[in-house]
Amino acid sequence: MDRNSLLQLAETYGSPLYVYDTDVISSQYKKITKAFSKVKNVKINYAAKALSNLNILKVFNKLNSGLDTVSIQEVKLGLLAGFEPKDIIYTPNGVSLQEIEDVAKLGVQINIDNLSILELFGQKHPNIPVCIRINPHVMAGGNSKISVGHIDSKFGISIHQVPHIKRVVENTNMHINGIHMHTGSDILDIDTFLRATEILFDTAKQFKNIDFIDFGSGFKVPYKTDDISTNIEELGKKLSKRFNEFCKEYGKDLTLMFEPGKFLVSQSGRFLAKVNVIKQTTSTVFAGIDSGLNHLIRPMFYNSYHQIKNLSNPKGRERYYSIVGYICETDTFGSNRRINEISEGDILCFHNAGAYCFSMASNYNSRYRPAEVMMHEGKDYLIRKRETFEDIIRHQELVI
Ligand SMILES: Cc1ncc(COP(=O)(O)O)c(C=O)c1O
Repeated sequence: MDRNSLLQLAETYGSPLYVYDTDVISSQYKKITKAFSKVKNVKINYAAKALSNLNILKVFNKLNSGLDTVSIQEVKLGLLAGFEPKDIIYTPNGVSLQEIEDVAKLGVQINIDNLSILELFGQKHPNIPVCIRINPHVMAGGNSKISVGHIDSKFGISIHQVPHIKRVVENTNMHINGIHMHTGSDILDIDTFLRATEILFDTAKQFKNIDFIDFGSGFKVPYKTDDISTNIEELGKKLSKRFNEFCKEYGKDLTLMFEPGKFLVSQSGRFLAKVNVIKQTTSTVFAGIDSGLNHLIRPMFYNSYHQIKNLSNPKGRERYYSIVGYICETDTFGSNRRINEISEGDILCFHNAGAYCFSMASNYNSRYRPAEVMMHEGKDYLIRKRETFEDIIRHQELVI
């Protein structure tokens, strides 16, 4: 995705625009499977929530990936994209028993993270095997919104409640076929992660007939030049060795599972937006673009960093800008960024726009969500049309 082809895409499809390169997706997928190649049974379940366009899901299906889902709608998207139910895992949080039962009817692997639901589900459906999401109480993850394995987190069943889980299993005669954790996103410290995996091994030992252990995800990707990321090769080496030892102790070749989102799609995406206005105030030069937190909320929500480049003037003198949106809130994409001189009408390019970008987009301020384009095998495809005013009013009922 070089500068000229991105500019051409902005010209052809308009702005703002999301663009995804499927070569990057397959190379990331291959990187993670290679890191765990010493384990006999490995299953990577792409976390659909990161980017759920049907075409992207199809790319993962072709790569032989499974799918990690959190809602019945994501499950249905996965089935529509061609995934077999057995290749989909459903890990909801705080949903109704009804939704879990509806997903179970579709034949998908259920992962339960709540004792009361486990008991109800076990009483009604003792013959449907379920996985349990354990909260290992390990503080991992880049910031508080994406650290989900700690003691105050709403996710998972506490490691201290394993005796209670076992009582529910005994009383209902249900079958636990997997143990799962997801400690958080943007994990840098492999040793912290490995500590949590030991807790999971200890838990797994207490269930007699499991088929898999799912270690969740949380691998960090680089956002800035020279940024550090999770060393997947080192994690692969260390965890594979430990996993193989555990399988021997357990007496069964279990499947090792992961469910990465960001690692697989973050770097595949670019977000292109046009500069509407340059505004010089007493303290700052703002570049206001034809987008806002309605299209890319991560900088405001997570304080996340996205590199921003001026595609239209790559050789221009570098100056300092604050890049802001058009929403009636403070929606700053980046403050005090050194960028090649920007003029009104220029196209800016945001990096790391594959994961949790379009999938978190909204119609706030009654704006249209952007179009999406996929670069695949040398060609560009429009995979989602830009919305129109019809989309804004589609479900509204005029009653007075
Ligand atoms: C249960 C679960 N699995 C996997 C993921 C994917 O995490 P990441 O995008 O950091 O790989 C998430 C992210 O929120 C999650 O909640």
